[in-house]
Amino acid sequence: SEGRGGTIASSHSNAVAPDQRNMSLAERYAATRRLSEKLAEPLSEADATIQSMPDASPAKWHLAHTTWFFETFLLRDSLPGYRLHDERWPFLFNSYYEAEGARIARKDRGLIARPSLDEVHDWREAVDEAIRPLLDDPAHADLIELGIAHEQQHQELLLTDIKHAFFKNPLGPAMWRGRHAHEDEQAGGVGLADGPDWHQHPGGIALIGHQEGGFAFDNEGPAHRVLLEPFALRGTLVTNGEWDGFIADGGYRTASLWLSDAWDWVRRCNIEAPLYWRDGEHFTHCGWEERDPDAPVTHISYYEADAFASWAGMRLPTEFEWEAIARGQDSPGHPADGGNQLDEAAPPLPRGGHDLFGDCWQFTRSAYLPYPRFAPAEGAVGEYNGKFMAGQWVLKGASCTTVRGHSRPSYRNFFYPQQRWQFTGLRLARDV
Ligand code: AVJ
Ligand code: FE
Repeated sequence: SEGRGGTIASSHSNAVAPDQRNMSLAERYAATRRLSEKLAEPLSEADATIQSMPDASPAKWHLAHTTWFFETFLLRDSLPGYRLHDERWPFLFNSYYEAEGARIARKDRGLIARPSLDEVHDWREAVDEAIRPLLDDPAHADLIELGIAHEQQHQELLLTDIKHAFFKNPLGPAMWRGRHAHEDEQAGGVGLADGPDWHQHPGGIALIGHQEGGFAFDNEGPAHRVLLEPFALRGTLVTNGEWDGFIADGGYRTASLWLSDAWDWVRRCNIEAPLYWRDGEHFTHCGWEERDPDAPVTHISYYEADAFASWAGMRLPTEFEWEAIARGQDSPGHPADGGNQLDEAAPPLPRGGHDLFGDCWQFTRSAYLPYPRFAPAEGAVGEYNGKFMAGQWVLKGASCTTVRGHSRPSYRNFFYPQQRWQFTGLRLARDV
């Protein structure tokens, strides 16, 4: 709709990163496209082509799929006379849209040796050129906004997927040089038990879901009321050091701490530590590094998060509890110091501190379900989030690989309970 399209670009909503709030939609489109390319810059053609597991996609595929999204849903559908750059490519770069027809199997994305990386870059340029007239037209603002947010989600996936691919290489290659500095702002010494560092909530009726204007994904609404019992949410994330304590105490060998599905998974897959851990080190975008005991633990599954909470005598928060605390913050989603989130092509690493957003995605114990009165959008983009509402869990916050503009209380990420290649961690909650 016109009014909405016109206000999004200049709005001061949480849906736009602080450094992009004065930019027009066209400028934000260009900045987003540029960042994707920057992120892929350190990668060779081979790096960008391989696929390390079905969950992860090649970097080249991310660059192409985001371009397919703009070409399909904007150029093809709305630019009169537009002809596809290559009519064979939608089969390769359609991710999961049934309404857009057949596509290559997800697990085979690493077989796409052609088109070459150069050809994908040429496609990106061609689409960026062709889309220009649509960028200033309010009639298309909502879809362009979605296309930008979509590409930003894929920037995060590009980073987490290449991390996994490099991890699987016995040489442990680095995407960026230099080691991460263990920096000042740390969780340092926060006890698991009662401390000053808990957000208290008295319970009551909370208004949940997207309600402040500006962009949001469809799964963030409609806003609705939820009844909360009194609870507390810890001010800091569980750290690597705390996780060492769980391991030392036999956490991974104690069946009573684990859900039944979780225990099956631990035994079947020989799980003994978070993904990317070995001895005192973990794998990062800069290669193998010593672990900072005070930094938040990451790359854990829902199963592990739940087991740790049981071990600690606490529990995971619900998505509603998490959101209610975030809404009570002075500046939800925008850490004053700029936090620790993706805004340039630099090595991401969680640091710890008191921000709700920006280090890692935090598991909640809420199933990823539609909110009351949720209805998917019309057409192919209606497949964006809604059809995945089975068997997954909601994660809140944002990670060090998430662009700042996605840090809002209503944002709902979702993954299956055994997945852990994203920057996933946990924040404990307890009943009061
Ligand atoms: C929200 C991260 C689960 O990976 O499928 C990308 C993001 N949606 N393209 C996913 C997404 C469409 C989504 N997650
Ligand atoms: Fe996608």
